[in-house]
Amino acid sequence: MTPDPLDRVLLVGFMGSGKTSVGRLVAERLGWRFVDFDDEIVKQTGASIPEIFRTEGEQRFRERETAVADRLLTERGVVLASGGGWGAVPGRLTALPPGTECFWLKVSAPTVMKRAVGEPGARPLLDRGDALQEASRLLEMRDPVYRQARWTVDTEQSAVEDVAARILEILFREHPEIVNE
Ligand code: S3P
Repeated sequence: MTPDPLDRVLLVGFMGSGKTSVGRLVAERLGWRFVDFDDEIVKQTGASIPEIFRTEGEQRFRERETAVADRLLTERGVVLASGGGWGAVPGRLTALPPGTECFWLKVSAPTVMKRAVGEPGARPLLDRGDALQEASRLLEMRDPVYRQARWTVDTEQSAVEDVAARILEILFREHPEIVNE
């Protein structure tokens, strides 16, 4: 069976897995646009993610996130970085629109903690009590759902550039229609 032509690349995974940094590199290499779900929500509302959680609550944030994702998943020639919660909703990664290649950037809780050190307060879900314990709890619930992505790339020991290179290698192999120049 011939695969659908590639229209978009979607990165899913936990906070701190590198979706934004890796996504930017992949987009640059493909000559495509890069869009981050959280950035779109911030642009729309004029408020930061922690502010939205504080003033509107998590449920309203999730509604905004769903609406942004539904729109972006119709666009072509884009690399999309989802928020960590979006791809953790059962059923989403198995019902993606045709032409979408989805990559799970896998990460462990201790590594999330190391990567979050430079950005205190940026992630409201990890500001509740013991952050390492909370990250481990969420990962345990979410990993079985993230795992439904077609591709898994372990980011644990890898630099952002190496993760991007691995993704590009898969894309060029699976989609000869995109030119590797
Ligand atoms: C969240 C992840 C965050 C952001 C919000 C909630 C989550 O995005 O959407 O803080 O539920 O995992 P990143 O994964 O880009 O940090």
